[in-house]
Amino acid sequence: MTQQIKSIADYHKAYQDSVTDPESFWAKQAESFTWKQKWDRVLEWNFEEPRVKWFEGGKLNITENCIDRHLADKADQVAILWEPNDPNQPNRSLTYQQLHDEVCKTANALKAHGVEKGDRVCFYMPMVPELAIGVLACARIGAVHSVVFAGFSASALADRIKDAACKMVICSDYNSRGPKFIPVKKVVDDALAMGCDSVETVLVHRNSNEPLDWNPAIDRWWHEEVDHQAAVCPAATMDAEDMLFILYTSGSTGKPKGVVHTCGGYMVFAEYSFRNVFQYETGDIYWCTADIGWITGHSYIVYGPLLAGATTLMFEGVPTYPDASRFWQVCQKHGVAQFYTAPTAIRALMAFGDQFVDSFDLDTLKVIGSVGEPINLEAWNWYNEKVGRKRVPIIDTWWQTETGGMMITPLPGITDTKPTYASYPLPGVQLELVDNEGRVIEGNDVEGLLCITFPWPSMLRTTYGDHERCRQTYFSTFPGKYFTGDGARRDEEGRYRIIGRVDDVINVSGHRMGTAEVENAINQHENVVESAVVGYPHDIKGQGIYAYVITQHPVADQDAFIREIKAVVTQVIGPIAKPDVIQVVSGLPKTRSGKIMRRILRKVASGDSSNLGDTSTLLNPEIVDELLKGAKP
Ligand code: WT7
Repeated sequence: MTQQIKSIADYHKAYQDSVTDPESFWAKQAESFTWKQKWDRVLEWNFEEPRVKWFEGGKLNITENCIDRHLADKADQVAILWEPNDPNQPNRSLTYQQLHDEVCKTANALKAHGVEKGDRVCFYMPMVPELAIGVLACARIGAVHSVVFAGFSASALADRIKDAACKMVICSDYNSRGPKFIPVKKVVDDALAMGCDSVETVLVHRNSNEPLDWNPAIDRWWHEEVDHQAAVCPAATMDAEDMLFILYTSGSTGKPKGVVHTCGGYMVFAEYSFRNVFQYETGDIYWCTADIGWITGHSYIVYGPLLAGATTLMFEGVPTYPDASRFWQVCQKHGVAQFYTAPTAIRALMAFGDQFVDSFDLDTLKVIGSVGEPINLEAWNWYNEKVGRKRVPIIDTWWQTETGGMMITPLPGITDTKPTYASYPLPGVQLELVDNEGRVIEGNDVEGLLCITFPWPSMLRTTYGDHERCRQTYFSTFPGKYFTGDGARRDEEGRYRIIGRVDDVINVSGHRMGTAEVENAINQHENVVESAVVGYPHDIKGQGIYAYVITQHPVADQDAFIREIKAVVTQVIGPIAKPDVIQVVSGLPKTRSGKIMRRILRKVASGDSSNLGDTSTLLNPEIVDELLKGAKP
C-alpha cells in the first residue's frame, strides 16, 4: 500500500517530502507494489526533448498489481460491480478471482489471434465488464490498448485505428444506452471500410440477440474465442517505461493526438491518487460515472481502484434513464461510499428538480467528486446540499488526459473545500502560474497560465508516432515547463481555481474538443467556404459550440442547411461535436495578416456586444456589425 494521508499534517509533510526529495518520496510509494525486478534509477528527465523516465530498469506487470496480488486476501471480494442500463436487469459482478480468470482467458484468446507484446488493440465498446476485462487482458500480455469512446463516428474511429496501426479491434454488437439501441459493430464495419489495413481480427462481444452483418474473414465472437481458454496466463514482463496505453485527445490544432502512458509511473500514481483522494477503505463501494473511453475511466474506474483492491462500480447507462433519479437510486441500492461525476451531469440533474434526489437515502456517501470542467457555483452548491446533504466533502479534481491522474484536488476531510476551487496540488505536483511572456507570477491572489515544473510519475511520455508534436504542444510555449493550456487563479491562501482553457480547445459537457477539428468537419459540407468555431457559455453543457459559416452560394433553406451541417459533423467526428448554434455570415473578422480574431467571435457568441476591443486593426471592421445583427441567442 502506498502511504495514506490521514491528516493535514500528513499532507503537508508528504507534499514537502515530494518536493525536497522527489526520488525518495516516489521510491517509497513504488516499493509497495509487486515488481518483477527493482528499478535502477527512480527518475531521469529533461523537459526540453522532453524525456521522462520513472523507475527505469524496473520490471513489472500492472495486472499482477491490479489482480494477482489481491488474490491472497481478496479473492472473493467483488472487484467489478456492474449496473446495467435497464434497472430491471440483474447486476453482474466479478470477484477478484473471477476477474483474474476472465482476464487470463481473454489474454490467451488475444495471443491465439497473434496479438503480441507491443501490438496495439483498439476498443470500441459500451460500458460492459468485457471492456475492463479486455483492457486488462492487453496489459497482461503487454499489448497496448487504445480505447475509443463509443460515441465517436466511423471516420473518427478509422483515424484512430490507422494512427496506431491497430492489429485488432474489440467491440460489441449493439449497445443499450438510455432509451436508445445503438448498432456498435456497424460503426466498426464502416470504419474498416475506410481502409484500416492493419486490422486482422474484429473480436465481437455479444450484448444482444439481434442479427448482425458478419465478415467471416475477420469477425470472431468473443464467447467462442474466449470461453474455452485456460484461466491462467503468465503476466508479460514489462519495463517500467514500456507503453501501457494510448488515448486520443483533442488539441488546438490538427487531428487528435495519441497521448502515451507507460506502465510503472502510471501505476504508482493511479493507485496513490485514488487511495488518497477518495480516502478509500476496504469494503467501500466506489463509483465513478465516467466512460472508460476517457482518461477518467482508465485511471479511476479500472486501474486506480483495482490497484487499490477496491470494489469499482461500472455503470452502463445514463443519468436520466429511466428518469433523473437513476444516479441516486444506484447510490442507495449499492450503498455507494465514493461518488465521482462531472459538472455537466450535476447541472442536467439539477434542472430536473430536487424531487429526483430528495427522497433517496444517501447516508453511505463519504466523498463526492467532480471532474472534467470547471464546476460553477450553483452546481457546486446544489451538489453540496442535495447530494452531499452538507455533510459530505466535495472534491473538485483538476487534471487532464496528459497528466494521467489527478493533480489538484482537496483531500476529503483533510484539506478544506471552497466552492469552485480545485484547491491544492497533490504531493509530487509542482505548479507555477506564468504570464503570457512566461514570467513567473509569485504570491497569492493572482491569476495566470497554469504550468507544471517538475515531472510526476503518470505524466504523458510522448504523443504516439510524433514526439515532436508532444514537445511542441506541451513543452515549447514556456521552455522548461509543462504547459497545461488552462488559466488559473491562486487565492489568498494558495488554493487554485481553474478558469478554463486559454487555447482553442473547448469543453462541451466535459468532452474536450478542438475548434479546428470541428471547423474541418463543417468545411466538408459542399456549400461551405470557411468556418470558425468558438465556445460560448451553456447552462448545462458548460460550453456550447457556436459556428460561424461562410457559404459559397446563398442558403435558401436555413433549417435544412443547419441540419446538413450537423449531419456532416456527426459523420466526421460524432454527435458530441454537433454545433449548438450555426450563423451564416458573409465574412469573418480578420487581421491584416489573415488571422481570425476569435476574441470578437467569442464575445458575439456569448451575447456580449460590449467591449469588443480594438477592431481598427481588422481588415474588414464592417463585418462586426453584421455578426452582431445576425447573432443567435
Ligand atoms: C481539461 C482536460 C481530467 C479528466 C477529464 C478531462 C478541464 C478537467 C477540471 C476541473 C476545471 C477542469 C481543463 C483540462 N478540466 N477537470 N476540475 N476544473 N477544469 O480530461 O479531456 O483531458 O480535459 O478539462 O480545462 O485542461 P481531458
